[in-house]
Amino acid sequence: MKSEYLLISREFAIQNKRYFAFLTLMSFLSSFFSVSMIAFVLPVLNFIEVNGDIDTAKTYWTIIASFFNTINLEMNVYTLAILNLVIVFSFQVIDYFRLIYIQNLYPLGMKYVRQNLMTKYLLDDFLNINSYSKSSLVTLYSMHASEYGNLFYRMFVLLFLIVQILLFTVVLSLINFSLLFLITSYILIIVFVTLKRGKYALKSGKEIANINDQILQRVTETINALKISKVFNYEKTLFNKSVKDSDLLLRESMNVHKNASLITFIDTFNFIFLMSTLIISYKYFQLPLSEIVIFLFLLFRLVPILKQFNFEKIEINAKLESALKIKRLVDENDYSTNFDYRDKINSLVKMNIKNVSFKYQNHNVLTDITLQFEPSKHYAIKGRSGSGKSTLADLILGLYKPSKGNIEYYDDKNKLIDISSVYKFYMSQEPFILNGTVRDNLLFGSNDDLTYTESTLNDALRKVDLESFFIQLQGLDTIIDENGANLSGGQKQRLALARLFIRHYDLIVLDEHTSAIDEVSIKIINEAIKSIRKSIIISITHDSAVMENADVIIELKNSRVNRKV
Ligand SMILES: Nc1ncnc2c1ncn2[C@@H]1O[C@H](COP(=O)(O)OP(=O)(O)O)[C@@H](O)[C@H]1O
Ligand SMILES: [Mg+2]
Repeated sequence: MKSEYLLISREFAIQNKRYFAFLTLMSFLSSFFSVSMIAFVLPVLNFIEVNGDIDTAKTYWTIIASFFNTINLEMNVYTLAILNLVIVFSFQVIDYFRLIYIQNLYPLGMKYVRQNLMTKYLLDDFLNINSYSKSSLVTLYSMHASEYGNLFYRMFVLLFLIVQILLFTVVLSLINFSLLFLITSYILIIVFVTLKRGKYALKSGKEIANINDQILQRVTETINALKISKVFNYEKTLFNKSVKDSDLLLRESMNVHKNASLITFIDTFNFIFLMSTLIISYKYFQLPLSEIVIFLFLLFRLVPILKQFNFEKIEINAKLESALKIKRLVDENDYSTNFDYRDKINSLVKMNIKNVSFKYQNHNVLTDITLQFEPSKHYAIKGRSGSGKSTLADLILGLYKPSKGNIEYYDDKNKLIDISSVYKFYMSQEPFILNGTVRDNLLFGSNDDLTYTESTLNDALRKVDLESFFIQLQGLDTIIDENGANLSGGQKQRLALARLFIRHYDLIVLDEHTSAIDEVSIKIINEAIKSIRKSIIISITHDSAVMENADVIIELKNSRVNRKV
């Protein structure tokens, strides 16, 4: 733990400087007024006692008297009361703003997290993203992000409480120095207990964050595997696992709240402390009654503050792990939210893979690959499954960086260009289908300023042998369910492939695009691909019909290029 959440807060504060400065000021002023309000009650009490025991030599008295002196006001019970009223009102006004602004920390924290995560996922190189499953992503976005926001909020409440406790002790020291010693030890005991208990909360918080991850992962998995779980009669097992997760979550949450709630026992302790303080201050320090009253008054204000301090600290500890999960993710790299570089377009004419090797962690997948690609040529890549074909495609598309060697891309003037500036097409092994209309699906990835006519879209459907199928339905307006649930495997592949035919792409990478498609349709698709001009086409395939359609066949074997024909 240590100062990890101080680190989080600092970063957040830097991002929201003005907000942070304003809140700190408000918190400080609010604490100041809240405490001075009490300081002014004491002289009033002294006045009421009339011949009382006014000890004008007392520090607090000299301060207040000199204050009256500077503003040229006679110090009597009325002016003191009015001043007190002004202070109470000022406190209320300032605290109103403090409360409004502090509430905003929650959504502000969430906004900060969302933007950072989104930037990270969209701009990061693929590798780091891969270590998180989709369901963890959902978790991170929803739960942890909200905990992160919550954490900032609580952090500020805690700051406010600490400032208040410090100011209280200052005022106390002005009233009676010996009492200050008593109060300070009292505060220290509570802070000590809080920190001790907080350690348990930290541990439980860690458990909670992990169990929550697991639960979300399990739910996503269950939904994805609904059909297959039923076939394998796996429902009961899934159900029991989920019950076990929830029980665990309940137990850990109970732990956190048990620790936070222990503070209720403070009241017993408090009572003993009050009584003994009363006796000590009256008998040994011979404090006047007015000072004892104000002292008790102070103490009564201090106790709820200490209680809340305990509560907030333990809650923060419980949420810390969630926030840290996010922080670790955001911290891995520092990205600016500048996506504009992708708007620059270069034409790709040549591509050289030079001595490229690639490994996942310690697992060598590709070794010393050297290949040249030229436009208007169709390359087929074959090889046993697991031989690294899809990985090579990812490298070519710039989704991964090679562990060794490099891939060079050249434009028509033979200048080196960045792969992100090239119009490229990709069809992954699992075709990506949008939940929307056929039209939405065709236009995915072509979100530039061009507009597409109905006939372009229908032509594209015809080239993948899908036009007649959708005509029976609502044509381009046919709704496609999530993941293409209302399509067959081959129809999904064909729909994803149809996107290729609505505009020109310099680089086309197709990963087993025909694996679920019948021979008749493959023939039609092959013809359509043959008619594409001036593109580098790379087909990863096991299909002999597709290979026959290619100009060059590359075989991967044992992580190397085995043969090129
Ligand atoms: N994200 C990943 N993390 C770790 N290993 C991976 C990852 N993706 C693929 N691999 C491994 O890399 C090897 C090549 O995978 P892949 O390129 O998908 O093969 P192919 O497409 O030829 O079937 C396989 O052994 C696979 O286990
Ligand atoms: Mg593959």
